[in-house]
Amino acid sequence: MATTEASQRAITVQNPSAGMTRRGFLGSLGVGWALFIMGAGAGTLGIVRFLFPNVLFEPPSTFKAGFPSDYGLGVDERFKETNGAWLVRTTSDPLSNRAGVEGIFVLSTTCTHLGCIPNWLAADQKFKCPCHGSGFRMSGMNFEGPAPRPLERFRVVHADDGQILVDKNQKFQWEKGQWPANEAFLKV
Ligand code: FES
Repeated sequence: MATTEASQRAITVQNPSAGMTRRGFLGSLGVGWALFIMGAGAGTLGIVRFLFPNVLFEPPSTFKAGFPSDYGLGVDERFKETNGAWLVRTTSDPLSNRAGVEGIFVLSTTCTHLGCIPNWLAADQKFKCPCHGSGFRMSGMNFEGPAPRPLERFRVVHADDGQILVDKNQKFQWEKGQWPANEAFLKV
């Protein structure tokens, strides 16, 4: 009888410990599943980011700018914000060896000092950079402030349909003697 009671006590003492082991096991299983689900979620997120990456959409480097007849004399700002370009129609551009020749050239809107975007001040007939005060003539030539060289010009040609085609992939720099190049000026 005494042996049976002792055995019973032993079972009673062992049972709580067995219960803890099961709970521990179930708890570990839960943590395992949670980690698995989190891992699967992270994997799915990775796939989604792979399929839909963060792409920086930049404006096209080549664009049609309408017909020459759409442009009056002077600086046209319609492509300043969208394409970083000013189209300038002039009756004479001696800086590109085209004195007395009517045509269109295209200026980059990037200041040659540190890259800010100047404003065209029609009343003063000049571009003025808001960052450090550089000034540029309508031709793009720098004449005041810290800008070390003129604005750059973009390639400009006629498209097949007669529109003006601006190609920002090709730039012409005055200090390199490139402004007289054929495609730096569109005769109209
Ligand atoms: S960035 Fe234009 S003057 Fe400095």
